[in-house]
Amino acid sequence: MALKRILSGMRPTGKLHLGNLHGALGNWVELQNSGKYDCCYFVADWHAFTSEYSTTEGIKDNTISMVIDWLAVGLDPQKSTLFVQSAIKEHAELFLLLSMITPLAWLERNPTYKEMKTELANKDLSTFGFLGYPVLQAADIIMYKAYGVPVGVDQLPHVELTREIARRFNFLYTEIFPIPEPLLTSVPKLLGIDGRKMSKSYDNSIYISDRGKVLLEKISSMFTDPQRMRKSDPGNPEICNVFTFHGLYSTPQTVKEIDAGCRKASIGCTDCKKMLAQRISDALAPVHERMDYYVNHMDEINSIIAAGNKKAAEIACRTMEEVRSAVKI
Ligand code: TRP
Ligand code: SF4
Repeated sequence: MALKRILSGMRPTGKLHLGNLHGALGNWVELQNSGKYDCCYFVADWHAFTSEYSTTEGIKDNTISMVIDWLAVGLDPQKSTLFVQSAIKEHAELFLLLSMITPLAWLERNPTYKEMKTELANKDLSTFGFLGYPVLQAADIIMYKAYGVPVGVDQLPHVELTREIARRFNFLYTEIFPIPEPLLTSVPKLLGIDGRKMSKSYDNSIYISDRGKVLLEKISSMFTDPQRMRKSDPGNPEICNVFTFHGLYSTPQTVKEIDAGCRKASIGCTDCKKMLAQRISDALAPVHERMDYYVNHMDEINSIIAAGNKKAAEIACRTMEEVRSAVKI
């Protein structure tokens, strides 16, 4: 029996941070390694245009550096199909057809749309493409007849819209699309070094590629329990971002010791952070090794992408034949 298909994508925002790693990306690797699914992961470079249409020069390089990060953290081209959206022109064709059947009201009431518009108020996002973002995303997903879409909570409205669009297509024409399920992981909320949400645009991220002095400096500047001004003040690990990270990188025993030590002020923040820096640095060492390898073997990156594109194109080609026949064109 064929394995169930998993599909997900990311916009090429350049190098990824630990929030990305412990959010969606880590889940992708796990799903891949479970051996239970046929996993397809792609770079949503057309989607990057919705907000970057006036400054597109970074998209290509960001695509490559993101794929390098993917490979470095353990996505394996032997196990997963890794491809680039813009290489599969069928996405544009399906997007066009889906746009014909998607009621405007569905798009206008999309909460992500409203939020992004306010958040990115300095960019003019009153474009047709921005409003239609979820329609392209729906095309990405149903093209591969995905059963599951591993995403973060922020993407839930998009997957919900995809389900509605797929149902509408099936209802109007022929039932060819399975209705995809969102696959959420529960991840602890990782904040940036300044205590706000970790985000590239806040310049507060710890990148997967950070190492040595840079990593150490970032971790030593992390916000901790704000009530703990002096080393002699007892702290509360529950509200400390450094402690959240220990939960991911340190052994349960160490986590327990830090928890107790922080509460009775027997361990200071400087030492606590030094320990964390060491743990993260150890955990990322093999990742950095793979990163260095790929940076020096760009030809391999290109052939991995070419092979993935070819596999994706075969599936997309078949789906579009069914679609054209369903819509009688
Ligand atoms: N919207 C997603 C994001 O911003 C990227 C994306 C595009 C995607 N197409 C997709 C995710 C299809 C899952 C499935 O991260
Ligand atoms: Fe946070 Fe560690 Fe300082 Fe406690 S000791 S406040 S857990 S950095």
